Amino acid sequence: MPSTPAPAPVTVIGLGPMGRAMAGAYLDRGHPVTVWNRTPSRADGLVGRGARLAATVEEALTASEVVVLSLTDHDAMYAVLERADPAALAGRVVVNLGSDTPERTREAAAWLAERGAVQLTGGVLTPPGGIGDPGSTTLYSGPREVFDAHRVTLEVLTAADHRGEDPGTAALLYQLNMTLFWTALTAYWQALALAGAHGLKAADILPLATGALDLSQFLDFYSPRVDAGDHTGDVDRLAMGAASVAHVLHTNADAGVDTTLPAALLEIFERGVAAGHGGDSSSSLVEVLSATSGR
Ligand SMILES: NC(=O)c1ccc[n+]([C@@H]2O[C@H](COP(=O)([O-])OP(=O)(O)OC[C@H]3O[C@@H](n4cnc5c(N)ncnc54)[C@H](OP(=O)(O)O)[C@@H]3O)[C@@H](O)[C@H]2O)c1
Repeated sequence: MPSTPAPAPVTVIGLGPMGRAMAGAYLDRGHPVTVWNRTPSRADGLVGRGARLAATVEEALTASEVVVLSLTDHDAMYAVLERADPAALAGRVVVNLGSDTPERTREAAAWLAERGAVQLTGGVLTPPGGIGDPGSTTLYSGPREVFDAHRVTLEVLTAADHRGEDPGTAALLYQLNMTLFWTALTAYWQALALAGAHGLKAADILPLATGALDLSQFLDFYSPRVDAGDHTGDVDRLAMGAASVAHVLHTNADAGVDTTLPAALLEIFERGVAAGHGGDSSSSLVEVLSATSGR
């Protein structure tokens, strides 16, 4: 009978809500866990459950082959890793789950490679409550053979989906996800502010908000059209959208609610109309937004 390998030692550096959930998931599954955090007191609960708090970053790095970085961004990563002798990074598999741009993520992979470490980039698509749940997903990119070799350890956190060798790919997919997430969630905060100005609680508009933010039928409809460059205004016209967004802006202004967000929307819609897309679908905004990218 082949024996099941013992759970691999894991180091978790960065103990915000996400890193704490990750270290906890490894402890739950019997992995020897070493942790380090700039603010050591955040490790208290984990130490009580059996984690070892490393006194230095160097000690944390050398405790395990697999080092999970759960830091705010790559500036934080350099700030932490530069505390250690670079030799401590040699031979490590650095599972870099901190958010940053694809370009900065490629730079981080090169920086780590210069020190003898391999980076697996991860984009975690769940809040901390989903860590340890195989129904949650993390997108990874980086060397396939390194991913395969450590897949069992990665899957303690979430399902692990390898999306390519380029270390920037997982960062790009993560930032695409966050582009959708933050803009949609801010739309919800705006609606709650408007609701509140009219004496409505979040609970009062919960079914309305849930329905409005389920955009799946629109995405299914527009996705093939956009890929085909088809912005026919047969079901919606940008000019109609611009009039509607103006009503949104004025309703928020009348209620004394901040109008930064609806004003920005109206500016984009009006720019599309001015560019001659008034009779096209609002999907033509993809062209308008692409044309101004990077300005
Ligand atoms: N929370 C979520 O729902 C969620 C979901 C998906 C992905 N993510 C991503 O996962 C990562 C971690 O998330 P989180 O919510 O745990 O983040 P967080 O609250 O920002 O905490 C991250 C950690 O970064 C450390 N840190 C920040 N700047 C530092 C610096 N200059 N030097 C040393 N340490 C520094 C903090 O240390 P201190 O404790 O000392 O401040 C903390 O341990 C982020 O990149 C986030 O975008 C988060």
